[in-house]
Amino acid sequence: MTASRILGTGHFVPPKVVTNFDVMKMMETSDEFIVERTGVHRRRHADPGQSATDLALPACRAAIEEAGLRPDQIDLLIMNTITPDHADPGCAFFMQDKLGVPGIGVIDIRQQCAGLIYGLAIADHFIRAGTYRHVLVVCSEVLSRRIDGSYDGRNISILLGDGAGATVVGPSDDDRGILSTILHADGSQAKALYTAAPGSALGRPEHLSKGDIDEGHVHFRMHGKTVFENGVAKMSEAVFESLKVNGLTLDDIDVLVPHQANLRMLEAIIQRVGIPQEKVVINVDEYGNMASACLPIAIDQARRSGMIRPGHRVMLVAFGSGFVWASALLRM
Ligand SMILES: CC(C)(COP(=O)(O)OP(=O)(O)OC[C@H]1O[C@@H](n2cnc3c(N)ncnc32)[C@H](O)[C@@H]1OP(=O)(O)O)[C@@H](O)C(=O)NCCC(=O)NCCS
Repeated sequence: MTASRILGTGHFVPPKVVTNFDVMKMMETSDEFIVERTGVHRRRHADPGQSATDLALPACRAAIEEAGLRPDQIDLLIMNTITPDHADPGCAFFMQDKLGVPGIGVIDIRQQCAGLIYGLAIADHFIRAGTYRHVLVVCSEVLSRRIDGSYDGRNISILLGDGAGATVVGPSDDDRGILSTILHADGSQAKALYTAAPGSALGRPEHLSKGDIDEGHVHFRMHGKTVFENGVAKMSEAVFESLKVNGLTLDDIDVLVPHQANLRMLEAIIQRVGIPQEKVVINVDEYGNMASACLPIAIDQARRSGMIRPGHRVMLVAFGSGFVWASALLRM
């Protein structure tokens, strides 16, 4: 079985910078609260005319180009987003059309902030099985569309930023590769961070009603402490589990790329895991929480800045609503 590796990465963030002072115009909050509780100073917001696939297109093109491929050499497209272009069909269909790769299979996954790692796991298995040669995994989020400045929505809304990242996965002919992907979920905690409507479990004939909008059921609702505590615990456990599965110690890891949930969470993970902070990619202060787009953007930025170099062992860990959590170990 041929192992797989990341052949190329790319990312795109919209140019509009939104400071905490701009966020203060959208809701009752303060720069002090946001910085102290989340470490976020700025984030990017898309223009109203830009959709998830608009942000993803330049990220996909950059990743494909870096892989030395043309779009028509992609055999499978996997997309993750919680802010799709439309309610249905899946966003991957709109992405396929925009990228100009008609006919190939597309898969939408909904793994929230762990989307990249789940996507890499699927890509890796298809490539190992010999089914596909080149798989594009793209994560794109326009979370600014989901800001709710109400009392109940502001705890998560202060974190949200927009962006997209993509990776092309293909066969490896040397020791570079995706060494492991480990996936977890706990659906009993799904309502700790969720959006109730539209849906089929609302106990009435309508999928979406005016009341859902008026009462805020269309917005994220998060139990902040539960998410914080579980996020720290699960991402820390995921690091140790990945080390154990691969027979490695922390010293063998060159770079850790955690999901950029919130700076305080990252600091708690760094402390719990005991990894030097200079080995950890952190950009949440500049970009906020971009859900699934965080990981592929952080990887691409770290590669382009030289923090991640060829031969490095890079560990990815993510945690998100569901709850979902996962790790991947890469040899770059
Ligand atoms: C979001 C977070 C910073 C909120 O902090 P918290 O202490 O848990 O906040 P709570 O929701 O319990 O509220 C505590 C107080 O802060 C207030 N508060 C919440 N959000 C606020 C905001 N944006 N601005 C000002 N005050 C806010 C609440 O109203 C509450 O005040 P009260 O006690 O007077 O009612 C924190 O929960 C957190 O970081 N959680 C993890 C979130 C995360 O990373 N999510 C992404 C998942 S991938």
